[in-house]
Amino acid sequence: MKKSLAKHFPMLFLQFLLIVGFCSCENPQEKKFKIGFSQCVTNDAWRKTMQEEMFRELSFYPDLSLEIKDAQGNNALQIEQILEFQRQGVDLLIVSPNESSPITPIVEEMYQSGIPVIVVDRKINSNLYSAYIGGDNYEIGITAGQYIKNLLNGKGSILEIWGLRGSSPAKERHRGLMESLEGSEIKIVSQIDGEWEKDTARIRLKEYLLQANAPGFDLVFGHNDVMTIGANEIARELNLPSKIFVGVDALPGPYGGIQAITDGVLDATFFYPTGGDKAIEVAAKILAGDSFEKENILQTAAVDASNIRIMKQQTDRIINQQSSIFRQMEMIESQLKIYKSQRGLLIVFGITLFIAIVSLAYVFKSLKDKQKINRELQRKNKEVNEQKEKVLSFSKKAEEATRYKLEFFTNISHDFRTPLTLIQGPIEELIHRKDAAPFRNDLLMVRKNTFRLLRLVNQLMDFRKIDSGKLQLKVSEQVLPPFLEEIMSVFNKSAKDNQIHFRLVCENPKIKLWFDPSMMDKVMFNLLSNAFKFTPKKGTILVNVEEDPLKHEVLITVEDTGPGMNKEETEHAFDRFYQGKSGTRITGSGLGLALSKELVELQHGTIDLKSEMGEKTVFLLRFKMGKSHFEPEELFSDLIQDQILDFESFLPEQDDSFPIENEPPDLKNTVLIIEDDLEIRNYLKNKLQTSYRILEAEDTSSAFLIALDEIPDLITCDLMLKNGNGLELIKKLKATPQTSSIPIIVISAKSSEEDMLKGIKTGIDDYITKPFSISFVMERIKTILSNRNQLKEHFLHELPRETNPLNSDKKFNKAFTSLVEENLSNPHFGVNEICKEIGLSRGQLYRKTKTVLGYSVNDYITKVRLKKAKYLLINDSGSIADISFKVGFSTAAYFSTVFKNAFGITPSEYRENQTQGKK
Ligand code: FRU
Repeated sequence: MKKSLAKHFPMLFLQFLLIVGFCSCENPQEKKFKIGFSQCVTNDAWRKTMQEEMFRELSFYPDLSLEIKDAQGNNALQIEQILEFQRQGVDLLIVSPNESSPITPIVEEMYQSGIPVIVVDRKINSNLYSAYIGGDNYEIGITAGQYIKNLLNGKGSILEIWGLRGSSPAKERHRGLMESLEGSEIKIVSQIDGEWEKDTARIRLKEYLLQANAPGFDLVFGHNDVMTIGANEIARELNLPSKIFVGVDALPGPYGGIQAITDGVLDATFFYPTGGDKAIEVAAKILAGDSFEKENILQTAAVDASNIRIMKQQTDRIINQQSSIFRQMEMIESQLKIYKSQRGLLIVFGITLFIAIVSLAYVFKSLKDKQKINRELQRKNKEVNEQKEKVLSFSKKAEEATRYKLEFFTNISHDFRTPLTLIQGPIEELIHRKDAAPFRNDLLMVRKNTFRLLRLVNQLMDFRKIDSGKLQLKVSEQVLPPFLEEIMSVFNKSAKDNQIHFRLVCENPKIKLWFDPSMMDKVMFNLLSNAFKFTPKKGTILVNVEEDPLKHEVLITVEDTGPGMNKEETEHAFDRFYQGKSGTRITGSGLGLALSKELVELQHGTIDLKSEMGEKTVFLLRFKMGKSHFEPEELFSDLIQDQILDFESFLPEQDDSFPIENEPPDLKNTVLIIEDDLEIRNYLKNKLQTSYRILEAEDTSSAFLIALDEIPDLITCDLMLKNGNGLELIKKLKATPQTSSIPIIVISAKSSEEDMLKGIKTGIDDYITKPFSISFVMERIKTILSNRNQLKEHFLHELPRETNPLNSDKKFNKAFTSLVEENLSNPHFGVNEICKEIGLSRGQLYRKTKTVLGYSVNDYITKVRLKKAKYLLINDSGSIADISFKVGFSTAAYFSTVFKNAFGITPSEYRENQTQGKK
């Protein structure tokens, strides 16, 4: 608010000054003194002359203003107007009294009230006034008498026309005349009252002359010229014999006395000055406090034919001068107006200039301030930018360092894969050789550590994927307890060997949760590995699952009775590459728990741990229920789960799962090895050629041609080949009728779930990641090949059917069972597909299967699937999820449920029982 006022101050100030400037120009300057003039009459030339003189004189006194009120020859009105002036607060009064007696008291009252009063022309009856200005009327009367005596040679008769009898000039002029004529033979024979007005004089004279006995006269003496001129007019009108006419005033101008003398209308007149200029001069002195004369008697003079020429010349000149003065005054007035308006403009201009300068100075100062602030801001900005750049470069360097580190680890990991494969191969071979039996435990230890290395390598690569944002969530809803049980089953043997009390505690076995099975698998595997690593013999490892309906969460805990962790270890347990002190719980690479934390948080869960030294350690996992916290593209409602269990690294050192074999070579089957790495190809070839006829190819085109020419019984295929994509080749082989049924095993370094899923979708039979166990590869080849030959027979023997089927039924039987067998891994395979292939309607098919096989179509397919599952559970080391997929179940959970319904036992229990039974 303050700022904006300061900002706008110059403009506001400018506006203010402009208003003041204009006001001062437009309003005329206030006069300092007001003069009120009470004039008895204003309608005759003498009075007009007086007023003109006053205004003329006023132009020399800019401080004075004058207002005239006309009493119109009315005493009462004059009194009233004088009082009005008093009310108006005039500073000085000028009064020309109509008649002396009625006006005297009001003049005295004004004078006594402190208002200076100047009496002009006519007098009052007292001397209570400030000043008097006027001619000597008594003197005029005397002079007129003497003049008349001369004119009439001392003898004659006079008709006297009176002014207003109550007014002093009339009385004094008469008195002077009478005194002057005293002792002579000149008599005043008649008197009429003209009351100073021409018309009144004319009317009264005419009335007088028309009287029959009106005495005659030689001379007319009028108290003023206008009445005397009127008398002359009447005399002429009535054709009176020649008379002498004498008046008073001798005004210049066309109707004045001077002109009347010139024209012969008057014979003589006496100059009676108006004194307007003198009145203003005295008023100015009084108001200014200067000294002045109280009685100011003005000069009079006689005018007649003897001096009329010179008088006329002088009065004409005076008139000319006066009109010239008037013109000059007008000019001065207009110049004054121009000056005033220019002065106003000048003031406005001056003010504007001043404001402009002030504003300019203000703007300049603001600009300077702004520049200063800008410079300061720029400096600070620069500093901030520099700091930002430093921080950015630090974080970039840190990022780069982390990236380089991870890249380094990733590269190292990749580099480790082939040597690991090449170490693992001979180890596998040696383990199974009878002559290496004394070293078997050592060899098992070497194998176990090879797997450990592999696990580390995989974890490092997972970190890389998380950091680069390539680890995508694939969330589906799972029944949690069976899922956990399956992971736990991997550790059953170790638990048994070490007499560890190991179990899942769960009140509700049907708890469902949305999560990424592959990530959850890694997390749980890590936590369980960790627990088993540190739990001593006869200890306890419990996995607990419970719902927290209030928080809408599922809580999974993994609790062990290991040595526990101290405070520092607990705080840093989830840090990447954190190494605890040796002998404590956090040792090793420091990757497993850090990776677990990342994987849990990717699923919007939390992981925590509580530990009591020497007592126990509990890992707590919390996952949100529902699926709203996942993005839609992360949700997979029908996810084919392929749990890639890293269980090999947890293999016991005394392992007897791989029988030591010494089988004779079986060269009736041909295997095509497609591999561009010569070392690995040779390695595979050396191992497999003892059992199979081997074909080799190092690129996709030669591989396809060989497959087409030779139709091998099985193909092993790498995915990243020199001249192309292995997946494309597989698709091509599956699309070609001659090669479509050849079983294919992918052996690839691409170990992500996505890669595997892509491979499996093309219809391959197995996916083995590098580094691989050669025994495992050989086992898989052997199993797949023997399955091809034995399964059909096996099912046909096992499944119920009519004892002696007809030939056509045999044909149907063969076609139907082959079809089911071929499509066993397709979860969508059903009645529609069979109808299409065999060419029967749904009804025909239903009846036929019921008659020939004794089952409905779907029941039969399920039976075959479960049968094959049983077979695979014993003969295939793949995970439960893997097997469930191979026999056409879309989820492991559903497979487990159907399996348990059919056989009263879960797939993992079945496998466990069967494996133990074997031993
Ligand atoms: C004008 C006048 C003059 C005369 C004077 C006397 O009004 O009548 O003619 O001299 O007044 O007061």
